[in-house]
Amino acid sequence: MKPIQVGLLGIGTVGSGTFNVLRRNQEEIKRRAGRGIEITMVADLDTARASAAVGEGVQVVSDARAVIANPDIDIVIELIGGYGIAKQLVMEAIAAGKHVVTANKALLAVHGTEIFEAAQAKGVMVAFEAAVAGGIPIIKALREGLTANSIQWIAGIINGTTNFILSEMRDKGLDFATVLKEAQRLGYAEADPTFDIEGVDAAHKVTLMSAIAFGIPVQFAKAHVEGITKLAAQDIKYAEQLGYRIKLLGITRRAAGGIELRVHPALVPAKRLLANVEGAMNAVVVHGDAVGTTLYYGKGAGSEPTASAVIADLVDITRLHTADAAQRVPHLAFHPNAMSDHLDVLPMRDVVTSYYLRLRVADEAGVLARVTGLLANAGISIDAVLQREADEVGGEGSTQTDLIILTHDTKEGTVDDALAELQALPSVLAPIVRIRKEELS
Ligand code: HSE
Repeated sequence: MKPIQVGLLGIGTVGSGTFNVLRRNQEEIKRRAGRGIEITMVADLDTARASAAVGEGVQVVSDARAVIANPDIDIVIELIGGYGIAKQLVMEAIAAGKHVVTANKALLAVHGTEIFEAAQAKGVMVAFEAAVAGGIPIIKALREGLTANSIQWIAGIINGTTNFILSEMRDKGLDFATVLKEAQRLGYAEADPTFDIEGVDAAHKVTLMSAIAFGIPVQFAKAHVEGITKLAAQDIKYAEQLGYRIKLLGITRRAAGGIELRVHPALVPAKRLLANVEGAMNAVVVHGDAVGTTLYYGKGAGSEPTASAVIADLVDITRLHTADAAQRVPHLAFHPNAMSDHLDVLPMRDVVTSYYLRLRVADEAGVLARVTGLLANAGISIDAVLQREADEVGGEGSTQTDLIILTHDTKEGTVDDALAELQALPSVLAPIVRIRKEELS
């Protein structure tokens, strides 16, 4: 059978990786897919770079629309990124009856509903394994491997840049700004790292996993997004003394009143596998009612790891594109007419979790009693208290100290209100640090 023909939009790091892996492993991939898969056309504004990357025999153009207009192209890979031109091109490719493979988590997390509806109406597939956790086949696992389960929760380290920064902060006792510069020098962090360090990239990814896990629409706008820019090396050290590590987690959970969807730094018990995922690696834990807890680990970015996911999608499409559209795996795992419309994303005030609190207080009689008394009155149960020596915190003769409190599970709204009261106490001398704690048990 004639090879399926693929057009590639954007040949940067992932594009060239896709090209190389497809070429290197073409025989094995063909034996798996049932027919050859060939990238025959590449669009990139930098045609010289693109020609150098693909060599002879591939048509290189600067106009992405020429790829979409080519009737011989069956699948379009979108690797441009962002919500602008990438969205237009994906919608045009769908309208032209092309299947689409994309690594664009931002696009799908924000415009997924519109894109999947258009694809459904046109009878084409939009595949996005590479959009979440790079080379880890987590979309496949959630959509297919765990399909028997009622998924209870997912917690993931799904941004390598921030995990690298947190690992370095812990290992070397350095502050955030110093490690960020080092990460940029080593090429881990982008020149503009905002999406990574502010948690936005992780929120795009957890939004997609949440939709697939619970059969709800993609709702990035409802995600709680908090990054790592305000984390102090001090808290990483105190967390360690208490047996925890701080990780930036993407969490989605089936709770009593709805779905939790949140990204924020969290204390994780040091004995959990997730706490030991270091450097730029990614890992996702999924808890299903039947299977229990499962863990997926690997490279979340990079040329060939991400290409591995892109090509897996190409193979899936090649196998399924002649199948009846109704028999294909639905984009978000649940059939479009069976999506849940009664599961809302919970506001953070309704989320229940436990907390690490650090209060800089005057080191004087009665302070601990006042603080714990106020928490008790609010119905917040304390799990552990750690008080540092004043000298250790503020130097010799210091009259201030740090009071670290771990709470049991509490509604976030209750903690918000109690912290506002605590902050107003004259003996509380600096803004209170509050970091959520996830036992993941
Ligand atoms: N910038 C991301 C990361 C990879 O650091 O994990 C692409 O989503």
